[in-house]
Amino acid sequence: MQSTEAYVRALPKAELHLHIEGTLEPELAFGLARKHRVALPYASAEELRAAYDFADLQSFLDLYYALAQVLRDADDFYRLALGYLERVHGQGVVHAEVFFDPQTHTGRGIAFGTVVDGLRRAFTEAQSRFGMTHRLIACFLRHLSAADAMGVLDEVLEHREAICAVGLDSSEVGHPPSKFAGVFARAREHGLITVAHAGEEGPPGYIYEALDILGVRRIDHGVRSEEDPALVARLVRERIALTVCPLSNVKLRVFDSIEHHNLKRLLEAGVCVTVNSDDPAYFGGYLLENYLAVQRALGLTRPQLASLARNSIEASWLEPAAKRRWTASIDACERG
Ligand code: ADE
Ligand code: ZN
Repeated sequence: MQSTEAYVRALPKAELHLHIEGTLEPELAFGLARKHRVALPYASAEELRAAYDFADLQSFLDLYYALAQVLRDADDFYRLALGYLERVHGQGVVHAEVFFDPQTHTGRGIAFGTVVDGLRRAFTEAQSRFGMTHRLIACFLRHLSAADAMGVLDEVLEHREAICAVGLDSSEVGHPPSKFAGVFARAREHGLITVAHAGEEGPPGYIYEALDILGVRRIDHGVRSEEDPALVARLVRERIALTVCPLSNVKLRVFDSIEHHNLKRLLEAGVCVTVNSDDPAYFGGYLLENYLAVQRALGLTRPQLASLARNSIEASWLEPAAKRRWTASIDACERG
């Protein structure tokens, strides 16, 4: 029989929760620091990797924003994204819906267009070399003001052909979705899809706000929904997907171990759960490693692994014909 790893690798999968800045591997960070003559407060890539021991979301974000300073020109963003795409192509990722954080770059003088140009070059190349498809999601940093986010939205609208959705990320607690009601309403008026991180560290109330105030139909993380059975029932009834990131949740101490993760319970409750990697360079694994970690720790069956892959295609923004094609190939993998 095929190994579990070979089985998961062969399943066509969509990645729906991936911060491109979170794919910055220490070796590339050091290479770019040398290129731009930026000093990093670590002696080597090994020493930097050894510092990836986080107490919570904020302690991770502090390092993540500091390291992103090495990304300066369009070629840096191209190399960053192409490195990610080459790696996950070999893991069976056929489609990626990818976040980027404009304010992390525009706030230090890098033009929005520079970021988008570099990213698009990589995604276009991956489409022609590997047949991989993508969507780009511009995220607002929720620790900054709604007025700042409105300025980002102006730039998103100037690059409307490249960007299909807006999202909300960064420090969750104390920055509820309702803070961005006006920005998201304007984004929706312009036909942008909306998503939001909610219920990672924040309470179930933030998930209700994301649904009812921001109009999202897919929640990033959402694992704290389990504390509110009525909310779980609604997620099931309305088929609202959660983009769950198991290795991230353990590294950022949302769960104290992968064995205690609630992914399997949510899946068995009927929620459209998907598996994703969040910031894989920091959390010890890309998409395949996330699938394998939950499979081993929670004892997921092969039909459950196939359901997770099917959910990722269903919850994606691919056109219906592509969804039907990928779903049929997942069904074929499942039949063996
Ligand atoms: N930005 C990058 N990773 C994040 C996460 N896990 N939560 C919130 N914001 C983020
Ligand atoms: Zn995230």
